[in-house]
Amino acid sequence: MPDNPPLKALPKIPCHVAVIMDGNGRWAKARGLPRIAGHRAGTENLRRVITACVEFGIKYLTIYAFSTENWGRPQEEVSGLMNIIEEVIERELSELHKQGVRLLHLGHLDGLSPNLREKVIKAVALTKNNDRLVLSIAFNYGGRDEIACAIRRMIDEGIKAEDVNETLISKYMFTDGVPDPDLIIRTSGEMRTSNFLIWQAAYSEWYTPQTLWPDFGREELYKAIEEYGKRDRRFGKISSEDYSNNQKPC
Ligand code: FPP
Repeated sequence: MPDNPPLKALPKIPCHVAVIMDGNGRWAKARGLPRIAGHRAGTENLRRVITACVEFGIKYLTIYAFSTENWGRPQEEVSGLMNIIEEVIERELSELHKQGVRLLHLGHLDGLSPNLREKVIKAVALTKNNDRLVLSIAFNYGGRDEIACAIRRMIDEGIKAEDVNETLISKYMFTDGVPDPDLIIRTSGEMRTSNFLIWQAAYSEWYTPQTLWPDFGREELYKAIEEYGKRDRRFGKISSEDYSNNQKPC
Protein backbone atom coordinates (compact mmCIF):
# COMPACT_ATOMS: atom_id res chain seq x y z
CA MET A 1 0.00 0.00 0.00
CA PRO A 2 1.47 3.43 -0.93
CA ASP A 3 2.15 5.92 1.90
CA ASN A 4 -0.51 8.30 0.65
CA PRO A 5 -3.25 6.33 -1.14
CA PRO A 6 -5.33 8.59 -3.40
CA LEU A 7 -8.45 9.95 -1.72
CA LYS A 8 -11.75 10.92 -3.34
CA ALA A 9 -11.77 14.62 -4.35
CA LEU A 10 -13.30 16.79 -1.65
CA PRO A 11 -16.14 19.03 -2.82
CA LYS A 12 -15.48 21.95 -0.44
CA ILE A 13 -12.06 22.93 0.85
CA PRO A 14 -11.77 25.39 3.75
CA CYS A 15 -9.50 28.30 2.97
CA HIS A 16 -8.12 28.49 6.49
CA VAL A 17 -7.82 25.62 8.96
CA ALA A 18 -6.70 26.34 12.53
CA VAL A 19 -5.66 23.62 14.95
CA ILE A 20 -5.44 23.23 18.71
CA MET A 21 -2.96 20.36 18.90
CA ASP A 22 -4.34 18.81 22.08
CA GLY A 23 -3.56 15.48 23.70
CA ASN A 24 0.23 15.27 23.51
CA GLY A 25 0.52 14.78 27.28
CA ARG A 26 -2.08 12.00 27.33
CA TRP A 27 -0.44 10.32 24.34
CA ALA A 28 2.87 10.24 26.23
CA LYS A 29 1.28 9.12 29.51
CA ALA A 30 -0.45 6.19 27.80
CA ARG A 31 3.02 5.01 26.73
CA GLY A 32 4.73 5.63 30.08
CA LEU A 33 6.78 8.45 28.52
CA PRO A 34 7.50 11.97 29.81
CA ARG A 35 5.12 14.69 28.54
CA ILE A 36 7.81 16.23 26.38
CA ALA A 37 7.97 12.99 24.36
CA GLY A 38 4.31 13.65 23.48
CA HIS A 39 5.19 17.13 22.24
CA ARG A 40 8.01 15.67 20.15
CA ALA A 41 5.60 13.12 18.63
CA GLY A 42 3.17 15.99 18.01
CA THR A 43 5.89 17.83 16.13
CA GLU A 44 6.70 14.85 13.90
CA ASN A 45 3.04 14.65 13.10
CA LEU A 46 2.94 18.31 12.11
CA ARG A 47 5.08 17.59 9.05
CA ARG A 48 2.45 15.09 7.80
CA VAL A 49 -0.37 17.56 8.40
CA ILE A 50 1.44 20.40 6.57
CA THR A 51 2.07 18.12 3.57
CA ALA A 52 -1.60 17.04 3.56
CA CYS A 53 -2.74 20.69 3.69
CA VAL A 54 -0.69 21.41 0.57
CA GLU A 55 -2.07 18.26 -1.09
CA PHE A 56 -5.71 19.18 -0.29
CA GLY A 57 -5.31 22.79 -1.43
CA ILE A 58 -5.71 24.46 1.97
CA LYS A 59 -4.15 27.94 1.73
CA TYR A 60 -3.84 28.89 5.40
CA LEU A 61 -2.97 26.69 8.37
CA THR A 62 -2.69 28.10 11.89
CA ILE A 63 -1.42 26.04 14.80
CA TYR A 64 -1.54 26.79 18.52
CA ALA A 65 1.93 25.88 19.76
CA PHE A 66 2.27 27.79 23.04
CA SER A 67 -0.22 30.03 24.83
CA THR A 68 0.47 32.95 27.16
CA GLU A 69 -0.97 30.67 29.88
CA ASN A 70 1.41 27.78 29.07
CA TRP A 71 4.20 29.65 30.92
CA GLY A 72 2.48 28.29 34.04
CA ARG A 73 3.42 24.67 33.16
CA PRO A 74 6.38 23.00 34.92
CA GLN A 75 9.69 24.66 33.98
CA GLU A 76 10.95 21.43 32.41
CA GLU A 77 8.00 21.29 30.01
CA VAL A 78 8.25 25.01 29.14
CA SER A 79 11.95 24.82 28.31
CA GLY A 80 11.38 21.54 26.46
CA LEU A 81 8.77 23.23 24.24
CA MET A 82 11.08 26.21 23.62
CA ASN A 83 13.86 23.82 22.58
CA ILE A 84 11.51 21.91 20.29
CA ILE A 85 10.40 25.02 18.43
CA GLU A 86 13.97 26.22 18.05
CA GLU A 87 15.10 22.82 16.72
CA VAL A 88 12.15 22.60 14.36
CA ILE A 89 12.90 25.99 12.79
CA GLU A 90 16.54 25.02 12.38
CA ARG A 91 15.78 21.56 10.94
CA GLU A 92 12.70 22.22 8.79
CA LEU A 93 13.03 25.81 7.57
CA SER A 94 14.80 25.16 4.27
CA GLU A 95 12.41 22.30 3.36
CA LEU A 96 9.35 24.42 4.23
CA HIS A 97 10.79 27.27 2.16
CA LYS A 98 11.36 24.87 -0.77
CA GLN A 99 7.73 23.69 -0.49
CA GLY A 100 6.56 27.32 -0.81
CA VAL A 101 5.37 27.67 2.79
CA ARG A 102 5.22 31.18 4.22
CA LEU A 103 5.75 31.32 7.98
CA LEU A 104 4.03 33.86 10.21
CA HIS A 105 4.29 34.26 13.96
CA LEU A 106 1.23 35.20 16.03
CA GLY A 107 2.00 36.46 19.52
CA HIS A 108 4.84 38.14 21.36
CA LEU A 109 8.53 37.74 20.73
CA ASP A 110 9.50 39.25 24.08
CA GLY A 111 9.78 36.60 26.74
CA LEU A 112 11.53 34.28 24.25
CA SER A 113 15.29 33.73 24.33
CA PRO A 114 17.28 36.09 22.03
CA ASN A 115 18.29 33.05 19.92
CA LEU A 116 14.73 31.88 19.39
CA ARG A 117 13.54 35.43 18.72
CA GLU A 118 16.17 35.85 16.04
CA LYS A 119 15.32 32.50 14.43
CA VAL A 120 11.62 33.40 14.27
CA ILE A 121 12.35 36.81 12.71
CA LYS A 122 14.70 35.24 10.13
CA ALA A 123 12.22 32.46 9.25
CA VAL A 124 9.41 34.98 8.70
CA ALA A 125 11.69 37.19 6.55
CA LEU A 126 13.07 34.30 4.47
CA THR A 127 9.65 32.93 3.55
CA LYS A 128 7.78 36.22 3.11
CA ASN A 129 7.23 35.82 -0.66
CA ASN A 130 5.98 32.20 -0.52
CA ASP A 131 2.30 31.62 -1.20
CA ARG A 132 1.59 27.89 -1.47
CA LEU A 133 0.57 27.65 2.19
CA VAL A 134 0.62 30.33 4.89
CA LEU A 135 1.56 28.61 8.15
CA SER A 136 0.88 30.83 11.17
CA ILE A 137 2.34 29.63 14.43
CA ALA A 138 0.61 30.99 17.51
CA PHE A 139 3.45 30.95 19.99
CA ASN A 140 3.44 33.00 23.20
CA TYR A 141 -0.07 33.88 22.05
CA GLY A 142 -3.33 34.59 23.87
CA GLY A 143 -6.57 35.75 22.25
CA ARG A 144 -7.55 38.18 25.02
CA ASP A 145 -4.03 39.57 25.10
CA GLU A 146 -4.20 40.04 21.32
CA ILE A 147 -7.38 42.11 21.68
CA ALA A 148 -5.88 44.18 24.54
CA CYS A 149 -2.77 44.86 22.40
CA ALA A 150 -4.94 45.92 19.46
CA ILE A 151 -6.85 48.39 21.65
CA ARG A 152 -3.61 49.80 23.08
CA ARG A 153 -2.15 50.30 19.58
CA MET A 154 -5.33 51.96 18.32
CA ILE A 155 -5.27 54.39 21.25
CA ASP A 156 -1.51 55.04 20.81
CA GLU A 157 -2.10 55.82 17.14
CA GLY A 158 -4.92 58.24 17.97
CA ILE A 159 -7.70 56.30 16.21
CA LYS A 160 -11.00 58.13 16.76
CA ALA A 161 -13.85 56.26 18.44
CA GLU A 162 -16.15 56.80 15.44
CA ASP A 163 -13.58 55.12 13.14
CA VAL A 164 -13.50 51.89 15.15
CA ASN A 165 -15.29 49.08 13.36
CA GLU A 166 -14.82 45.31 12.94
CA THR A 167 -12.68 45.64 9.80
CA LEU A 168 -10.34 48.10 11.52
CA ILE A 169 -10.03 45.93 14.64
CA SER A 170 -9.12 42.93 12.45
CA LYS A 171 -6.26 44.99 10.98
CA TYR A 172 -4.81 45.48 14.47
CA MET A 173 -4.81 41.76 15.25
CA PHE A 174 -1.66 39.63 14.88
CA THR A 175 -3.58 37.92 12.04
CA ASP A 176 -3.82 41.06 9.86
CA GLY A 177 -3.99 39.88 6.22
CA VAL A 178 -4.99 36.31 7.14
CA PRO A 179 -8.67 35.43 6.57
CA ASP A 180 -10.67 34.25 9.58
CA PRO A 181 -10.48 30.47 10.13
CA ASP A 182 -13.20 28.51 8.37
CA LEU A 183 -12.55 25.35 10.34
CA ILE A 184 -11.01 24.93 13.79
CA ILE A 185 -9.92 21.44 14.78
CA ARG A 186 -9.27 20.62 18.43
CA THR A 187 -8.01 17.10 18.83
CA SER A 188 -8.48 14.81 21.85
CA GLY A 189 -12.20 15.43 22.27
CA GLU A 190 -11.86 18.55 24.44
CA MET A 191 -14.35 21.31 23.64
CA ARG A 192 -12.88 24.61 24.78
CA THR A 193 -11.62 27.64 22.89
CA SER A 194 -8.66 28.04 25.33
CA ASN A 195 -8.08 31.69 24.36
CA PHE A 196 -7.34 30.75 20.73
CA LEU A 197 -8.30 33.22 17.97
CA ILE A 198 -11.31 34.36 19.98
CA TRP A 199 -11.87 37.44 17.76
CA GLN A 200 -11.30 35.58 14.49
CA ALA A 201 -13.35 32.48 15.37
CA ALA A 202 -16.71 34.29 15.48
CA TYR A 203 -18.12 32.15 12.65
CA SER A 204 -15.66 29.27 12.43
CA GLU A 205 -16.88 25.71 12.24
CA TRP A 206 -15.51 23.45 15.00
CA TYR A 207 -14.44 19.83 14.66
CA THR A 208 -13.39 17.94 17.78
CA PRO A 209 -12.27 14.36 17.06
CA GLN A 210 -11.31 12.05 19.96
CA THR A 211 -7.94 11.36 18.29
CA LEU A 212 -4.93 12.62 20.25
CA TRP A 213 -2.80 15.09 18.28
CA PRO A 214 0.23 12.80 17.63
CA ASP A 215 -2.16 10.30 15.98
CA PHE A 216 -3.91 12.92 13.82
CA GLY A 217 -2.72 12.52 10.24
CA ARG A 218 -3.69 12.88 6.60
CA GLU A 219 -6.77 10.61 6.77
CA GLU A 220 -8.04 12.39 9.90
CA LEU A 221 -7.59 15.76 8.21
CA TYR A 222 -9.47 14.41 5.20
CA LYS A 223 -12.36 13.35 7.49
CA ALA A 224 -12.41 16.81 9.10
CA ILE A 225 -12.68 18.48 5.69
CA GLU A 226 -15.32 15.99 4.58
CA GLU A 227 -17.35 16.89 7.68
CA TYR A 228 -16.77 20.61 7.03
CA GLY A 229 -18.20 20.10 3.53
CA LYS A 230 -21.50 18.99 5.09
CA ARG A 231 -21.89 22.11 7.24
CA ASP A 232 -24.29 24.82 6.11
CA ARG A 233 -22.55 28.09 6.94
CA ARG A 234 -25.04 30.90 7.20
CA PHE A 235 -23.10 33.56 9.14
CA GLY A 236 -26.23 34.46 11.07
CA LYS A 237 -28.26 34.77 7.89
CA ILE A 238 -30.57 32.21 6.32
CA SER A 239 -28.64 31.26 3.22
CA SER A 240 -25.12 29.83 2.99
CA GLU A 241 -24.63 31.95 -0.15
CA ASP A 242 -24.32 35.05 2.07
CA TYR A 243 -20.74 35.70 3.11
CA SER A 244 -19.86 38.52 5.46
CA ASN A 245 -17.12 40.93 4.30
CA ASN A 246 -14.14 39.02 5.66
CA GLN A 247 -15.46 35.55 4.84
CA LYS A 248 -15.11 35.42 1.07
CA PRO A 249 -14.10 31.90 -0.04
CA CYS A 250 -10.41 31.51 -1.08
C1 FPP B 1 -1.48 20.55 24.05
O1 FPP B 1 -1.39 19.23 24.55
C2 FPP B 1 -0.26 20.88 23.31
C3 FPP B 1 0.55 21.93 23.60
C4 FPP B 1 0.30 22.88 24.71
C5 FPP B 1 1.78 22.19 22.85
C6 FPP B 1 1.75 21.85 21.39
C7 FPP B 1 3.12 22.02 20.88
C8 FPP B 1 3.74 21.24 20.01
C9 FPP B 1 3.13 20.08 19.30
C10 FPP B 1 5.18 21.58 19.76
C11 FPP B 1 5.51 21.83 18.37
C12 FPP B 1 5.18 23.13 17.84
C13 FPP B 1 5.84 23.64 16.78
C14 FPP B 1 5.33 24.80 16.08
C15 FPP B 1 7.10 23.07 16.29
P1 FPP B 1 -1.33 18.99 26.12
O2 FPP B 1 0.09 19.07 26.56
O3 FPP B 1 -2.22 19.95 26.82
O4 FPP B 1 -1.87 17.52 26.21
P2 FPP B 1 -2.79 16.90 27.39
O5 FPP B 1 -4.07 17.68 27.37
O6 FPP B 1 -2.97 15.48 26.94
O7 FPP B 1 -2.02 17.04 28.65
